[in-house]
Amino acid sequence: MDWGMKNRLSRIIKPDTGRTVMLAIDHGYFLGPTSGLEEPGKTAEPLLPHADTLMLTRGVLRSCICPETDAPIVLRVSGGTSILGNLADEGRTVAIEDAVRLNVAGVALSIFVGSELEKQTLLGLAELVDLGGSRGIPVIAVTAVGKEMARDARYLGLACRIAAELGANIVKTYYCEDFKKVVRNCPVPIVIAGGKKVEEKEALDIAYRAVSDGAVGVDMGRNIFQSTHPVAMIQAVREVVHNNMTPDKAFDLFNTLAGEQAATGT
Ligand code: R5P
Repeated sequence: MDWGMKNRLSRIIKPDTGRTVMLAIDHGYFLGPTSGLEEPGKTAEPLLPHADTLMLTRGVLRSCICPETDAPIVLRVSGGTSILGNLADEGRTVAIEDAVRLNVAGVALSIFVGSELEKQTLLGLAELVDLGGSRGIPVIAVTAVGKEMARDARYLGLACRIAAELGANIVKTYYCEDFKKVVRNCPVPIVIAGGKKVEEKEALDIAYRAVSDGAVGVDMGRNIFQSTHPVAMIQAVREVVHNNMTPDKAFDLFNTLAGEQAATGT
C-alpha cells in the first residue's frame, strides 16, 4: 500500500485507538431536505471538533463547509437517484480528479447487493477502487439496504464480503444480530451506520455493541444531528467508540453534557 493511501486511511481510522467516529451528513443526496440538515454548515460546525471525519456530498462541501476546516473529508461520490425513483440505480457523481482537487481523505459509494441493479453498482465499486487506488484515495463501500432486503448477518455478511473482495478499503454497513460473523468474514475494517433516529441510550448501545463485536467505529448521522443535544451526543459516541465506555456511562455523560450545554447556551 502506498504512502498516500496509508496516510489518508490513518486520517479516517485514528491510529492511536484503531477506531473512528465518522459524522455523516450526506442524506440529502437522495432524501432532499432532511430534518436537522436544513442548514448543513450550521449543523456541522459545532460537531466537527468531535468528529474524526465528515461524510458529505460535493455540493454541500463546497457551499457550506469552510475550506480551512481540519476535518478529513469523506466524499460521497455515488447518487443520481431519489426516494421517488429506483434507489439502486445509482451511478458515480464525481470525477476522481475533483475528489483529488477537494483534498478528500476518502470516497464513498453505495452498492445494492441483491437488487436487479447489483451488477451496475458492484462494477461501479470496482471502477472506483481502480480510480481511487491510482491516486492513493481509500474507497468506502456502503452496503445500501433496499426495503425488501433483510438486515441480517447472512445478507449483510454477503454484501460486506463482496465489497471487500472488490477492493473496498472500508465497508460501511448496519449492525445486526450475529454481527461478529459479519466482521469475521470481512477482511477490511467495518463501520456501522446509525440508522433512523432512536433514543440516545439505544444509539449508544448499538455503537457499543458494534465496536465490541469488531467494528472500527461508526459513520453516524441522524442519531447525532437529530438528537436534542447533538454536541453532547457526538461526545458520548466518541467515548464509546474510542474508549469503550459502556452505554450506561455514556448516557450519563450525554445527560451531564446536555445539561451543561443547555445552561451555557453552547
Ligand atoms: C446512507 O447511505 C447515507 O450514507 C447515510 O450517511 C448513512 O445512512 C449514515 O447515516 P445514518 O446514521 O443517519 O443512518
